[in-house]
Amino acid sequence: MYSKETTRELQKLTTELVKKQSSISKKDVAQVRDVLRFHEHRYYILNDPLIADYEYDQLFKALEKIEEETPSLKTADSPTQRVAKGLTKDFPTVQHLVPMLSLDNSYNSDDLIDFDRKARELTGLDKIEYCVEPKFDGGSISIVYENDLMVLGATRGDGVEGDEVTMNIKQIRSVPLSAKFSDYGLQQVEIRGEVLINKSNFAKYNEQLTEQGLAPLANPRNAAAGTLRIKDPKEAAKRNLEAFVYHVSYYSLAKGKKIPVELTTHSGSLALLWELGFRSPQKEKKIFKGIDGVIKYCADFETGRDDLPYEIDGMVIKVNDLALQDKMGMTSHHPRWAIAYKFKARQGTTKLLNVEFQVGRTGAITPVAKLEPVAVGGVTVSSISVHNEEYIREKDLRIGDAVLIERAGDVIPQIVKSLTDARTGKEKKIVFPKTCPVCDSKLFKEEEEAVWRCINIECPAQVVERIIHFVSKDAMDIRGFGDANVRKFYELGLLKDIPGVYQLDFNQIAKQEGFKEKSIQNLKSAIETSRQQPLHRLIYALGIRFVGETTAKTLAQAVNHLLDFKKISLEELQNLEDVGPKVACSIHHFFSNKSNIEILEQLEKLGLQLKNQKKQLSSGGNLQGQTFLFTGTLPTLKRSEAEAIAEETGGQILSGVSAKLNYLVVGEDAGSKLEKAKKINTVKIISEAEFLQITGKK
Ligand code: IVH
Repeated sequence: MYSKETTRELQKLTTELVKKQSSISKKDVAQVRDVLRFHEHRYYILNDPLIADYEYDQLFKALEKIEEETPSLKTADSPTQRVAKGLTKDFPTVQHLVPMLSLDNSYNSDDLIDFDRKARELTGLDKIEYCVEPKFDGGSISIVYENDLMVLGATRGDGVEGDEVTMNIKQIRSVPLSAKFSDYGLQQVEIRGEVLINKSNFAKYNEQLTEQGLAPLANPRNAAAGTLRIKDPKEAAKRNLEAFVYHVSYYSLAKGKKIPVELTTHSGSLALLWELGFRSPQKEKKIFKGIDGVIKYCADFETGRDDLPYEIDGMVIKVNDLALQDKMGMTSHHPRWAIAYKFKARQGTTKLLNVEFQVGRTGAITPVAKLEPVAVGGVTVSSISVHNEEYIREKDLRIGDAVLIERAGDVIPQIVKSLTDARTGKEKKIVFPKTCPVCDSKLFKEEEEAVWRCINIECPAQVVERIIHFVSKDAMDIRGFGDANVRKFYELGLLKDIPGVYQLDFNQIAKQEGFKEKSIQNLKSAIETSRQQPLHRLIYALGIRFVGETTAKTLAQAVNHLLDFKKISLEELQNLEDVGPKVACSIHHFFSNKSNIEILEQLEKLGLQLKNQKKQLSSGGNLQGQTFLFTGTLPTLKRSEAEAIAEETGGQILSGVSAKLNYLVVGEDAGSKLEKAKKINTVKIISEAEFLQITGKK
């Protein structure tokens, strides 16, 4: 596609344009496009980028700017034209120029020998030339180019008609928006390929789903095929689809042009596509005379299957000579000139014996299906996570069901579906517990979430992980504790819960291997120091769901004492900055749990700071963002003087009592404001003297 010389030139041009940057102008537009296309090819086709992402983005933005300023300069195949606007309403049905057939399958060398025998019989030849390439495991697509421009992209559909998904296919960077088919005398061209999500993008995507409390997808194939039909092309772009193209299914010639020699063999068409900037299996394909080499090549690919960055489920063997292909023809389902060689299945069927409920480290309850052991792709599977209640309902799983399971590559095995036709009527519904299977506390589920949780911080299932978080650097910062020590002390019975951190028996620890006097001294003093950590660190250390360091600071500011949260309503919590309904709910649940409160009381007895020290004895004079209101007659200050002091120190004056109020400064004859403020736990009611103290004026 790009010769060494052109590559060098484009590299030089890139450097010039990157340097030029803000002075890139209209007259550079064609060059910027050439450069961007070149780098897309390096990145998405050759997997060998020559430019930093940031530099690419800068050039892309420069092009966008020029096109915006002078719309007449826009072209349909400009790299900017992949950027989608708006939503696709429906996917219109389109007819493929040539039906999309599927392939006949083979599973072992005998099947391949048989295929070769039939092919020789049909053609009357002694030896046939085959082209062998991977069978990509994604969703099949058809793309049409007219006069070098991509005009249509469609899904396979029923093979005759598919859904038009042009905009989503335009998001795939390995599909060129234009290609010089005209150089080969071709006018209209239909090509076939497969869209994929590579394994690492798939894993990332599944991680995101899990973080959102949603169930992960069973395999990259479903993810790729599903993405093609997403209505928001921007969302589709985020999934980073890739595409391989492997077949020219139709072409028309420009007037007076002859069939190019490339299009007389299959390997030639792969080379032509590659040359035009497509990602065809040019490097992966191999040509063999006779079937023996084919068999060996298939076996080799199967061995190396897991090392590929994307999923393949087999190999495709095609008669290389296209005239011979024509001669052999096809049945109503599949061509006689090609066959798929399927790798060992990574799917299997088995019986769902039971569902157990496990408690994760954050208290999430995970249902785990226990299965009759089954070998899938070389691994025996006997239990599989079934994620959450909704997933179980959606898949309609029942105890006793026959289930289809899949282990896609490095992906954790998943249940694809239950085989409902095989039901006998004896299958049992899966009942989700209402209380924690380990500590029996009531379970909670946040709105819009799929996961039930145990929020008892003493729950043995969670305790170790919670202690690890408690002592960690950003929390109580107890140096020298570390994950390994927490686990060790827990296993030895020297540490049972969070308060236990402050009650360690150092005589016992000294008896353990690896603990010298020095390290014990260090640990002791780190624990000692941590008792004085400010309230916001303690709040963060408690590991309340959704309460990160920032929210912990907001919360610490809102109260005089941590246990004040026992009395604060959901509504009041939501009035705090950055505290939405989800976070408020989580905090509320935490402080409604009896054992959580007991732990906090113990911690206070052990000398930890549950009071908001700043609020109690602040004299720093920095009250940035704090809100004030004055009521009654103050002993020495005029109202205006007091307000000025509050503002001077970064405070803000409110006009009435609400949950947004931090301080009500009360003088003589205070009236309804005081009464109202007393009802809101977060409002601190202070005297003028205290006001002067916290503003640093005393
Ligand atoms: S050729 C007329 N080549 O496998 C022949 N198909 O099970 C068209 N597939 O529908 C197919 N990789 O979606 C061909 N290298 C490859 C392929 C491939 C994946 C898919 C394709 C097809 C299905 C058949």
